[in-house]
Amino acid sequence: MYNCPDELSKVLSGSNMHNNQKFLSGFDGIRPRRLRLNTTIRNLCSENTLQKKHLISPLFIQDSVKGKIEINSMPGCFRHDIDSLLREIEESMHLGINIFALFPVIKNELKCPNGTEALNQDSLIPQTLQKIKEKFPGTVLIADLALDPYTSHGQDGVLDENNYVDNDRTVKILSEMAIVHAQAGADILAPSDMMDRRVQAIRKNLDQNNLINKLILSYSAKYASAFYGPFRDALISGLKSGDKKTYQMDFSNSKEAIKEAKLDEEEGADMLMVKPALSYLDVIYQVSQNTKLPILAYSVSGEYSMIKAAALNGWLDEKQIVLEILTSVIRAGASGILTYHAKQAAQWF
Ligand code: PBG
Repeated sequence: MYNCPDELSKVLSGSNMHNNQKFLSGFDGIRPRRLRLNTTIRNLCSENTLQKKHLISPLFIQDSVKGKIEINSMPGCFRHDIDSLLREIEESMHLGINIFALFPVIKNELKCPNGTEALNQDSLIPQTLQKIKEKFPGTVLIADLALDPYTSHGQDGVLDENNYVDNDRTVKILSEMAIVHAQAGADILAPSDMMDRRVQAIRKNLDQNNLINKLILSYSAKYASAFYGPFRDALISGLKSGDKKTYQMDFSNSKEAIKEAKLDEEEGADMLMVKPALSYLDVIYQVSQNTKLPILAYSVSGEYSMIKAAALNGWLDEKQIVLEILTSVIRAGASGILTYHAKQAAQWF
């Protein structure tokens, strides 16, 4: 553009600028780039720093496998038997990760329309919680409260005669499930079902059972998202028909997330969750501006798989991308992130 030397020298000397163009704002000495001069200065001034304490590792447990089986659509993630799961937890703890969220792969013959296996004290998750706590009492364990791993139809609740997910009957079951999981060793109960008024029911039931120090992490804003695809593979739990749009939120909405968050706060939630994370940074931000509670974000299976697929093709630098995305979630206002990259990220620090 400035290939004429006379024009270029005028531009560099600023002599072709009008006075009011020369200083766009403020004093001429202001140069924001000074704060980016070198790594030490950049680090000193960075507004957000991703730390190991932010990382929560979701893990899949299956009792009908030996060892661990890699999930096709989530390379590097596994369905573990109990010994393999305990090893995974030990390795993660060595890397500084102490919080785990557990998801069960329930055998088909144990599933039914009402998801009754969710209330069985000897079921896979209660047993797993007990074993982890016995071996690693320093862990903080999150138990997901939703019926979809247990129902034969794959919905998160029980159905009425019109195949509509029956809110109040589901809430009753979830509040019982909370007791079973809390008594088995869960520190944090995380209703991920999006039924109305479940936080209140769960809190009441926990308190009546003397489980006053068990936390509730409520999935306040859980969207009906195609990003959950690989997770449903992982749990071999895919929906038999339909979708989850009568309870999970519409991805067009964000004010609704604030409404949900406020209700959960009023009902006694200790922490709130926004899920998924990457396409919902605006929601994390808006919820964080409207609550005093800590917010966690769930970087879900599809987010992991997208990055993995690109990384395995050599199209993206996995480490740089993951650290950038995780930091953006913290910048948006989250105090922690559930991510399938937790262990890898901890190794990269
Ligand atoms: C079930 C549940 C889902 C996820 C966590 N809990 C799937 C769903 O709602 O269908 C998804 C997590 C992920 O994709 O990583 N209530």
